[in-house]
Amino acid sequence: MARGRFITLEGGEGTGKSTQARLLAEHLESRGFEITVTREPGGSALAERIRDLLLAPDVPGHSQLAEALLFNAARADHLEELIVPALHRGRWVICDRFCDSTRVYQGVVGGLSSLLLDKLDEMVVAETQIDLTIVIDLDPVVGLARVASRRAGAAATDRYEARSTDYHERLRQGFLGIARADPVRCVVVDGFKSVDDLAREIRGHVDARLMRGRGA
Ligand SMILES: Nc1ncnc2c1ncn2[C@@H]1O[C@H](COP(=O)(O)OP(=O)(O)O)[C@@H](O)[C@H]1O
Ligand SMILES: [Mg+2]
Repeated sequence: MARGRFITLEGGEGTGKSTQARLLAEHLESRGFEITVTREPGGSALAERIRDLLLAPDVPGHSQLAEALLFNAARADHLEELIVPALHRGRWVICDRFCDSTRVYQGVVGGLSSLLLDKLDEMVVAETQIDLTIVIDLDPVVGLARVASRRAGAAATDRYEARSTDYHERLRQGFLGIARADPVRCVVVDGFKSVDDLAREIRGHVDARLMRGRGA
């Protein structure tokens, strides 16, 4: 059986990643593909436990390296328990955030060197190839306002959402930099578009880049 495809969605808070992951999954399922939708940090039992730790209110003065290792510990479990077996069964996996988020949050903005993050990727992501990364780009003021209204009356903001607009603008530039450096794997879409327009654009990219020889 052919290996399934591995698609990741990346971008800042409130850009529409979770919304678009779900819509893309529905579309691909309607075309007869078997889809696994998952997210990071999390996606497996152990990784969800680590997620709770990672998104809890900030621990003052903590080590960026410790944080990156926790994300990677979660990722190792997520890959081994969920992503790799699904791909081997021919399922397509859509992952809401993956290693580019670590690159941006702990690397570009957090200050860890790309050499160190390369080593972690070599060890953890190893030979699991990402077929397509969709980077949703959006003014962080808009993204954070969406998150605030999504959360109205619900849980408190997590530790990343709570940071300044300037911090979020640096995240945005980090994701754009990754996409520029790897245009074969990554495509940037405009998160300001309506949910439906954006979903249509994303489907177009998936069709153009991943459907060749896949029938359906
Ligand atoms: N294109 C869009 N235009 C307007 N609102 C959107 C759009 N995409 C998502 N939203 C809304 O913004 C909020 C954040 O979307 P979500 O998909 O959870 O973003 P993310 O997963 O990137 O943080 C949700 O309330 C969602 O309904
Ligand atoms: Mg989300």
